[in-house]
Amino acid sequence: MEDISKINKQRLPKHIAIIMDGNGRWAKQKGKLRVFGHKNGVKAVRDVVEGSAEIGVKVLTLYAFSTENWNRPKAEVDVLMNLLVSSLKKELKLLQDNNIRLQAIGNLEKLPKKAKRELEEVIQITKNNTHLVLNLAISYSAKEEIVNAFKKISKKIVNNELSIEEIDENIINNHLYTRNLPDVDLVIRTSGEKRISNFLLWQIAYAELYFTDLFWPDFRKTHLIQAILDYQQRERRFGKTSDQLKNNE
Ligand code: FPP
Repeated sequence: MEDISKINKQRLPKHIAIIMDGNGRWAKQKGKLRVFGHKNGVKAVRDVVEGSAEIGVKVLTLYAFSTENWNRPKAEVDVLMNLLVSSLKKELKLLQDNNIRLQAIGNLEKLPKKAKRELEEVIQITKNNTHLVLNLAISYSAKEEIVNAFKKISKKIVNNELSIEEIDENIINNHLYTRNLPDVDLVIRTSGEKRISNFLLWQIAYAELYFTDLFWPDFRKTHLIQAILDYQQRERRFGKTSDQLKNNE
């Protein structure tokens, strides 16, 4: 078990984003249906949310459902949507007790009415919480997010609210779903796959990437600590040389 006290509080990743992968394979390994994996995935979500709050991470983004996931069999999509609703209902107390604010990014218009309503309700109830932002990526596609940003910016240009010369990284940031969030410092992907899968393409420009072979339902706070300790061993140069960093240039 990794110990939280080993973490250097001065060098915490502010924003951790997790691709929760391997629920289906975890279940298959046990001779069970895929939905059994998703149900157990919720336990990992709870542990990692609690752990992030305890460690002092400011933003935790979880990739819960991609736009591509709408193409899965309807029965599996229904289970995932129902799990989302039941978890939101069940975990509201956990969010409130830990001063956690819920947010969501993605094309939420595509969600079933009940899921959208429940999500909006919990977002509203927790909106003044300040310790941790739990940001759920649901019905999310990074490319779609960027397309939407292009459209919004173009509209402002056509309406003379913005000039082409004014477009910079800040303007683009401000038109993404993540407009109020800092860039991602650490991306974690479970299940041994080494892909980004259309997740936060703009926001991970300088993120450290951490891959583990564990399937998501087996991932716990101790593994989150392991990932953070690994992150803290790395030198983030942002394009500079090691010497420049040492000299604070
Ligand atoms: C990836 O495993 C996981 C998902 C597509 C869904 C993640 C959802 C949860 C953990 C539960 C609900 C979430 C919340 C926030 C309450 P996979 O199905 O792609 O697994 P496989 O790659 O082994 O098939």
